[in-house]
Amino acid sequence: MKILLLGKNGQVGWELARTLLPLGELISLDRQQLDFSNTAALPEAIASIRPNMIINAVAYTAVDKAESERDKAFLCNAHAVEVIAQEAKKVGALLIHYSTDYVFDGTKDTPYLEEDTPHPLNVYGESKLAGEAAIMASGVEYLILRTTWVFASRGQNFLKTMLRLAAERESLSIVSDQIGAPTWARVIAQTTAHIVQQVQRERAEKTFESGIFHLTSAGDTSWHGFAQKIVEVASAQRALTLRSLTPIRTSQYPTPAQRPHNSRLCTNKLTARFGLVMPAWDVSLELCMEELC
Ligand SMILES: NC(=O)c1ccc[n+]([C@@H]2O[C@H](COP(=O)([O-])OP(=O)(O)OC[C@H]3O[C@@H](n4cnc5c(N)ncnc54)[C@H](OP(=O)(O)O)[C@@H]3O)[C@@H](O)[C@H]2O)c1
Repeated sequence: MKILLLGKNGQVGWELARTLLPLGELISLDRQQLDFSNTAALPEAIASIRPNMIINAVAYTAVDKAESERDKAFLCNAHAVEVIAQEAKKVGALLIHYSTDYVFDGTKDTPYLEEDTPHPLNVYGESKLAGEAAIMASGVEYLILRTTWVFASRGQNFLKTMLRLAAERESLSIVSDQIGAPTWARVIAQTTAHIVQQVQRERAEKTFESGIFHLTSAGDTSWHGFAQKIVEVASAQRALTLRSLTPIRTSQYPTPAQRPHNSRLCTNKLTARFGLVMPAWDVSLELCMEELC
């Protein structure tokens, strides 16, 4: 099997580039090798590689910046994805693509199901939803994996920011009325690898069915709860300057992009189809932080 991984230097892409290695011939590309801004270059790249599977970890992920860079967000998250889906269909490749809880508005009281109606609150969410729609309209065989609050020992993320601030500041105020599941990029990559193996068998047996799946850690917390856990684990590892962590409401921390209050996604469909049990967010966090220590 020939797997084409796009976005090998992102949080999820970096983990995929390692986790997918034993599954076949892996061709991993970064932005220099394939820039999604140049959509005209995408068909030739895919046609020349002729992969059996494309795993797309590329995304424009600057949620606040997207409010003033709508075209850039849509070019990467929707238009380029549409071209990739169409080319994947032409070469008979399965497309695995990641999406986000930000396709929902967060007004539901319980975790979102895959079939719940999306209603993004921000440009990033709109662009990711347009990417999902383009894949589904293309006729390609696909899996869309929606995840949430990604952290990793590399890249830009809440964990890395909190660790830096906890060593610089004495007090911090963190939003406590947005609820979600922090999800380790490595768990996303490992889960994807298990999925790849199963769908390879399903495709060979002609039983494969495309679909959207929610892929997040088990459990939930607020950004404040996430920060508390990071500080708790970090303070056992090193000296911190941070003395107080105050919970605040979203309205006290205005950002250009509006965010959903409820980012919880139900993962029962993923467990039922692939037999995978998602680990608790705090267990993953401790493992990731052991690596950072
Ligand atoms: N981060 C989150 O909290 C979060 C939450 C929910 C869903 N997701 C979804 O999960 C997936 C993986 O996200 P992530 O956290 O791994 O994102 P990330 O760390 O921001 O990585 C995104 C990757 O996309 C690449 N990229 C951006 N624009 C590009 C372009 N024009 N051409 C080619 N490559 C480009 C980046 O390249 P450079 O390294 O060169 O910048 C980077 O390698 C995405 O689909 C994202 O929407 C993420």
